[in-house]
Amino acid sequence: MTHPTRRDFHKAGAAGVLTALSAGRVLGANSRIRLGFIGLGNRGDQVLDAFLPHNDAEIIALCDLYQPYLDFAAKKAGGSPKTTKNYHDILSNKDVDAVVICTPDHWHALQTVHACQAGKDVYVEKPLSLCGEEGRRMVEAARQHKTVTQVGLMRRSSAFCREACEFVRKGGIGQVTVARAFHIQNEWPKGIGNPPNAEEPKDFSWDQWLGPAPKVPYNKNRTFYRFRWFYDYSGGQLTNFGVHYLDLIHWALGQDAPLAVTALGGKYAVQDNREVPDTLEVLWQYPGNTLVSFSQFNCTAAPAGINSGEVELRGTKGTVYIQSKGWMVVPDALTEHEFPVHTPIDRAAERGWREGAKPAIEPRTVTGGKQDTADHARNFLDCVVSRQPCNADIEIGHRDTSAALIGEVALKNKVYLEWDAKAEKFSNSEAANARLRYEYRPPYQFPA
Ligand SMILES: NC(=O)c1ccc[n+]([C@@H]2O[C@H](COP(=O)([O-])OP(=O)(O)OC[C@H]3O[C@@H](n4cnc5c(N)ncnc54)[C@H](O)[C@@H]3O)[C@@H](O)[C@H]2O)c1
Repeated sequence: MTHPTRRDFHKAGAAGVLTALSAGRVLGANSRIRLGFIGLGNRGDQVLDAFLPHNDAEIIALCDLYQPYLDFAAKKAGGSPKTTKNYHDILSNKDVDAVVICTPDHWHALQTVHACQAGKDVYVEKPLSLCGEEGRRMVEAARQHKTVTQVGLMRRSSAFCREACEFVRKGGIGQVTVARAFHIQNEWPKGIGNPPNAEEPKDFSWDQWLGPAPKVPYNKNRTFYRFRWFYDYSGGQLTNFGVHYLDLIHWALGQDAPLAVTALGGKYAVQDNREVPDTLEVLWQYPGNTLVSFSQFNCTAAPAGINSGEVELRGTKGTVYIQSKGWMVVPDALTEHEFPVHTPIDRAAERGWREGAKPAIEPRTVTGGKQDTADHARNFLDCVVSRQPCNADIEIGHRDTSAALIGEVALKNKVYLEWDAKAEKFSNSEAANARLRYEYRPPYQFPA
């Protein structure tokens, strides 16, 4: 199979547009992009909803390991899609142009690399991977096979997030010295509970679900949705919400990788069988003198100034808050005077220091914004035709995910780590470098 080049794209001209699609099919003006979905749980269902309104998308194949989810999705998609429990059936289906991967994190790398090798374009959920080396292999596979990729970081297709990040990047709040992200949720005391290990359900294959992950007894907390709290499959809120927030921070700073990272935290409050922390502080140093942090608090009240626990960027001229439906600029009042010497004799000089301070920038509040996955799906479908990079191309998803994953390594190894972003290795710890990859359970093989 050959993949189209930019020249092929131009050659296709008015007659239709070549894509990198499996069969090298020519998409004409009225062609529909034929999609296969892999993973139809919580997020797969949401992403299905996001693609269904687009008339140029046709859902022709569905894959999940759990029959009730498969049946539910087939009914919703309409048009009698083919259903399977083996994702290779979707990849070998010549009619499928692109796949949408919404499986747990530990499956993303293998399924994405296999999809690229099969000539399918790929929409894959965040976090991109479970370890840094997987992410790099995924980027390489996408580039080698000229795959159009979209990572499920839908804020990249949100107009208000774009506006806020551009405002910051263009100096709207001066030099950004601090960027903070928050996940705030009180799960005390029971969290996800403490179910015992058990027999796997009859309509479910635990071994297939585990895939490359280590073989362990079935426990219901390790599967649907709650796999997030176990390190063999995911990384807790740091790689769940944290990757979305690091994406906004990278976008706003115009950076894609930190220089150093450290972390502290643990399971301080909840009494369940999770492995990941309920309380966490990760701290990164970024080029350009910016300190970035992710805070996970097991409490309900948000810190002052944060309504919905997303991102706060503090600059020399003011602060930008990016929330789920809008953003806000809060100016700092600056004075021309030097910071005073505090003396017992002349307190008036201290008081006078702030006199004449003026707001450095205009305040602003933007409300009613959307972070809509349907817009992200639209961008993917457009790029499948145009062969242009998507808003959240795989390299973006890889760099965002890597930043979170190295925070996880710092937490596990209880160390301060220096990160060489070019080599994608730590420069001061071989023990930490060992955590950038893991051994797949045979017969699964780490993507080459
Ligand atoms: N972008 C977002 O805002 C967002 C929101 C939620 C979840 N996610 C991401 O989506 C992914 C899935 O999360 P979820 O909440 O939907 O989990 P989930 O457990 O509800 O769904 C995962 C589904 O994948 C299926 N599956 C597992 N292995 C499979 C395999 N080998 N082949 C086919 N199907 C397989 C499971 O049976 C399950 O139905 C995660 O990576 C998560 O981080 C992203």
